[in-house]
Amino acid sequence: MLGTFDRAAAQRGYQVYRQVCASCHGLKHVRYQYLQKIGFSKAQVKAIAAEYQVRDGPDDEGEMYDRPGKPSDTFVGPYKNKKAAQAANNGSYPPDLSLITKARAGGADYLYALLTGYQELPPANVDLVPGKYYNPYFPGGQIAMAPPLLEGVVTYDDGTVATPKQMAHDVTTFLAWASEPELEQRRRLGIQWLIFLSIFTIVCYLLKRSYWKIIKKKSSNS
Ligand code: HEC
Repeated sequence: MLGTFDRAAAQRGYQVYRQVCASCHGLKHVRYQYLQKIGFSKAQVKAIAAEYQVRDGPDDEGEMYDRPGKPSDTFVGPYKNKKAAQAANNGSYPPDLSLITKARAGGADYLYALLTGYQELPPANVDLVPGKYYNPYFPGGQIAMAPPLLEGVVTYDDGTVATPKQMAHDVTTFLAWASEPELEQRRRLGIQWLIFLSIFTIVCYLLKRSYWKIIKKKSSNS
């Protein structure tokens, strides 16, 4: 009930998203400033946002223009639109990952299993479509995404060894957080309410007892 996200894992997971997944997958419901909730400093978030170019406008001449990202912007995706994304991926669409752990049955467990579940050789009875990869966790078993987490694809800033399993765990933690950035706050508020309600109940009970004492005294006197 008190569950919080592992900050260090979520930060490493951001690094995996940024260096691997972000070239194909957007995160359009997440604002850069949310990253402060998993422990990035204000200055770090500002620098992260500024790495992106955001389309803004129109300016006084009526033209749209690009400017560096601000912490209040949402993540800029890799493609202009869905068609461009499909064109770059052999017709398959890499879905936005903002809500992925909520959008799939199994949530975070499914995501971790998918990322670690690729098999180089499909079973003999499976005819692999060209351009697809065998992954028994994906519905139908054939996915258009090449295994993204290969040994050495990321070097962690904090010194953790980036094995494929470690990266899958970290990016899953990050994406589970991304789909519910308010979760910790909501839980905290819920607990504050529970404490308040318990105290309120005790106060009501004590009041009721003392009132009834007076009422009983009065009615036995009359
Ligand atoms: C080179 C591009 C590319 C990269 C890099 C990439 N993906 Fe994908 N991803 C795709 C494509 C294309 C699909 C659609 C697959 C399909 O429909 O067969 C996909 C699908 C997915 C799905 C959806 C599976 C489902 O149930 O529909 C998830 C989740 C996912 N990717 C996660 C990730 C994560 C996490 C990373 C980073 C570790 C990543 N991807 C890196 C291209 C990519």
